[in-house]
Amino acid sequence: MSKHFEARVARLASNLYLLRLEDRETRFFEALWEIPEGVTYNAYLLDTGEGMILLDGWKKGYDDLFMEALRSVADPRDVEWVIVHHVEPDHTGTLPRLLEEAGGPTVLCHPMAVGLIEALYGVKPRARVVRDGETLVLGQEELELHYTPWLHWPETIMSYHRGLRVLFSGDAFGSYSIPGGITDEDLDPADVLGFSRKYVATVVGKYRQHVVKVLEKLSSRGVEPQVIAPLHGLVWKKRPRLILDKYLAWAQAEPVKGKVLIAYGSMYGAVEEAINIVSRRLEELGASITVYRFTDRERAPIGALLGDALDAEALVLGAATYESGVFPLIRYVAEELAEKAAASKPVLVVTSYGWGGAAGRRLSEILGRAGFQVHVVEFRGSPGPIRGRLLEAADRLLSGDLG
Ligand code: FEO
Repeated sequence: MSKHFEARVARLASNLYLLRLEDRETRFFEALWEIPEGVTYNAYLLDTGEGMILLDGWKKGYDDLFMEALRSVADPRDVEWVIVHHVEPDHTGTLPRLLEEAGGPTVLCHPMAVGLIEALYGVKPRARVVRDGETLVLGQEELELHYTPWLHWPETIMSYHRGLRVLFSGDAFGSYSIPGGITDEDLDPADVLGFSRKYVATVVGKYRQHVVKVLEKLSSRGVEPQVIAPLHGLVWKKRPRLILDKYLAWAQAEPVKGKVLIAYGSMYGAVEEAINIVSRRLEELGASITVYRFTDRERAPIGALLGDALDAEALVLGAATYESGVFPLIRYVAEELAEKAAASKPVLVVTSYGWGGAAGRRLSEILGRAGFQVHVVEFRGSPGPIRGRLLEAADRLLSGDLG
């Protein structure tokens, strides 16, 4: 059995190393998103010939392992500069220990990052704030620093090594999972793209229009990377364009033709019965269906659900009225869809009630405000009597004519 966490050090170029922590211990990323596939935290070390540049770090709690990984390729006292692309503690948790053992290197970061580092860790590093677009000469190397706000915090920056054509991209272009290899030369990218899409939805989702802005900005500055080096997951070396294009498509919630996401909660089976009528019809019509269930036997992973929503062509949500509102888990799903996967896509809401219907109206409000085109089919008790309406709604969902 593999350990719950492990360090991996790899050479990416003659003077560039990856320091990767493979975390199988965290079950819920940000205490929110189920990650049975695990996650990595990627730091990088660039030898300038006149001192080392450390680019980011690892999550809090792995200080010993981080220092050990660093010492395997360099003397920590040779670290002259630390670039903090993003202050979130999954990348700065090891910073205080590093500052202590490296003898006070200079931290290079966005102006907004300094105060947050001090507030989080109670340290006052020697800091140099960088200007947007500035080229820093560090030893014998040059790095361009680009502000990339809201990917996914306001202080996020990327750095670009024009000589090596490596883009250190922060969280952007990252993925969940612990890939079997270091770069996409080592494996089939199809193995990780589903985890990249889930990462976009859950982490970048709310601000995903900034992916489009940042790619335009970098392109206008002549940044044409051959290597994408993110803070999580695979380093993209063979097909960097693939991950850029995929991120762009997910950021724009570009639909995959015929893909329908179904998510439903069913306490006693009535909603499930109605959903089954709809899903069988959709399959007859040639749709490719992905189903997430919340029942007395099953609790679907919401992070993966949000990932699948990003490139779905249409959605179906099923939920009963519950205490004059929406069955709670589907209410949460709808709220997260509205926050992280909002798009002008058709959504069929299938909803049941015993005493009075409220869920359909409430789900319409939540999803409608986010731009979804919502159609509600509501029934009392059992869906048998409204079978025809469900079939018709399924037909209209795929034809894009929900009315
Ligand atoms: Fe991977 Fe936003 O930290």
